[in-house]
Amino acid sequence: MIRPIDPRMNGSGMADIKKGLAGVVVDTTAISKVNPETNSLLYRGYPVQELAASCSVEQVAWLLWHGELPTDDELTAFEADERTQRALPAELKTVIDGLPTSAHPMDVVRTAVSVIGALDPDAEDSSRESNLAKSVRLFAMLPAVVAYDQRRRHGEDLVPPRDDLDYARNFLWMTFGEEPDDVDADVFRISMVLYAEHSFNASTFTARVVTSTLADLYSAVTAAVGALKGPLHGGANEAVMRIFDEIGSPDAVDEWLDDALAQKRKIMGFGHRVYKHGDSRVPTMKAALDWLVAKHEAHGVAELYERLEAAMLERKNIRPNLDYPSGPAYALLGFDTWTFTPLFVAARVVGWTAHVMEQLESNALIRPLSEYVGPDERHVDAAPIGLSAAS
Ligand code: COA
Repeated sequence: MIRPIDPRMNGSGMADIKKGLAGVVVDTTAISKVNPETNSLLYRGYPVQELAASCSVEQVAWLLWHGELPTDDELTAFEADERTQRALPAELKTVIDGLPTSAHPMDVVRTAVSVIGALDPDAEDSSRESNLAKSVRLFAMLPAVVAYDQRRRHGEDLVPPRDDLDYARNFLWMTFGEEPDDVDADVFRISMVLYAEHSFNASTFTARVVTSTLADLYSAVTAAVGALKGPLHGGANEAVMRIFDEIGSPDAVDEWLDDALAQKRKIMGFGHRVYKHGDSRVPTMKAALDWLVAKHEAHGVAELYERLEAAMLERKNIRPNLDYPSGPAYALLGFDTWTFTPLFVAARVVGWTAHVMEQLESNALIRPLSEYVGPDERHVDAAPIGLSAAS
């Protein structure tokens, strides 16, 4: 008998499996372009370094959602809208207060996104207009969640938002209860711009998978938060700081790294699935970190950073990713280590929601195949029970 040729077969009788979907192009996107050859990242065509140098977080959010930078009028209207939605809803505060402070802040953020969805009477409306409104709501509200969650863990009260501060300054105000200086505000703004979008990374792809089932935007973002939590993805910025603490001092770097590599540990903040010659965002974030280092005279941090980077390059030829400079930068800004990944959520929610809207513009259910390697067909060796027994 002639068997039909299965295009999935690679000639060995096994499907041609792309483990981890590495190298697989699953769809088109007009939102961002990662080019590992030129080491560049474009948001809607603009180099991310230029956006980080010249644009507010609000401008970049608008760009990612709409495809163009806002005009002055559009920006004024958007900022006014965003500022009215910054407060933590009372129902959400009650839920957060009911969560133990032993819970990871990413669990709090994941729960918060779900609650914000449950509170939205338009949650099921997946029109572009409604999804855009939801995207702005999440963008505006998540800073209050992250800021309050850090505060409550220190026994501190909620600091209400201010509508006379931009996104970055207000975020820091709500976290620390003080107006940030220009260095802190700018470093934080830059980090939010750099984290806002990165094509089909694991959490964004998760959001697109959920959206492809026609589930609502909040479900997609809740799932994306879950994907981001892992240390191979967003959790790395938190893990970098834990490594810095573990190493302790610059002089301990070489011995620590030799031990860690001998134990086959992954060094957090290094390596990338797409960038193999360096992450295009690192130089911008490292320059921002250097401003904080100078301000705090935290030269030990800078020395440890540089020695670990050099040692990784020498031993493994692996370069840092964005989480490497952002981890110590967030620490110098005063954030608790386990709040770092929620900061990434607050920024990346822009990219996720842009991808949710793009997915819906030409949706196809995302449902790959698998090669079954379990037991051959076998049968249950027991008498039927219940209605099966009667029939
Ligand atoms: N520390 C030590 N070794 C690393 C490494 C790291 N951070 N990243 C990659 N490698 C090594 C792997 O051990 C592997 O070596 P081998 O071929 O001898 O087994 C090789 O480099 C290829 O790595 P691999 O895990 O297959 O690459 P990937 O593309 O699947 O993984 C990451 C990319 C990001 C998951 C990986 O680099 C990593 O785990 N980094 C640390 C976590 C991190 O910073 N994540 C944030 C990403 S933005």
